[in-house]
Amino acid sequence: MAIDAEEPDRRDFLVLAAGAFVAVGGAMTLWPFIQQMNPDAGAQALASIEVDLAPVKEGQAITVLWRGKPVFIRHRTPEEIATAKAVPITDLIDEFARNDALPEDTPATDPNRTKGGHENWLIMVGICTHLGCIPKGQSLGDAKGDFGGWLCPCHGSHYDTAGRIRKGPAPRNLEVPVYNFVNDTKIKIG
Ligand code: FES
Repeated sequence: MAIDAEEPDRRDFLVLAAGAFVAVGGAMTLWPFIQQMNPDAGAQALASIEVDLAPVKEGQAITVLWRGKPVFIRHRTPEEIATAKAVPITDLIDEFARNDALPEDTPATDPNRTKGGHENWLIMVGICTHLGCIPKGQSLGDAKGDFGGWLCPCHGSHYDTAGRIRKGPAPRNLEVPVYNFVNDTKIKIG
């Protein structure tokens, strides 16, 4: 077990959990920290959270804490979307969408992992499906792996720009939680 390799990710996660803050990374701009959890949500926040997407510019990503798990939110570029859409299902290691809002046997097309009309937003639980590390790819300067999405530093699983496993030991695509758009710039997760 690569204990040493996991430690930085656990520290990152603890920072998120302790402060209920999220880090914003982007291709051109480094955002400092913005608060994402609704402070007056009380116990309900454990079940669902609302996230304001307005500060997250194209090419940037944020991580929020939901039910004790990191949730990755990436504002995808048109190139990232086009790349994800162009991948044939037959090229995928895991052919299922792993979208909690859809039936288990739903194919892992890019539209099945996003919301219609909001395909620029990719929202997933940021826990590697191999042994549970937190993949890199959210912050400015992170390695994003061979497919431009996320790279798990523990044992080298590569995820694409739709969060689908493409290379390495992870068996499944990153989980898409149940979420809905409250309006054009706000989502409710859970
Ligand atoms: S936990 Fe092993 S590759 Fe991610």
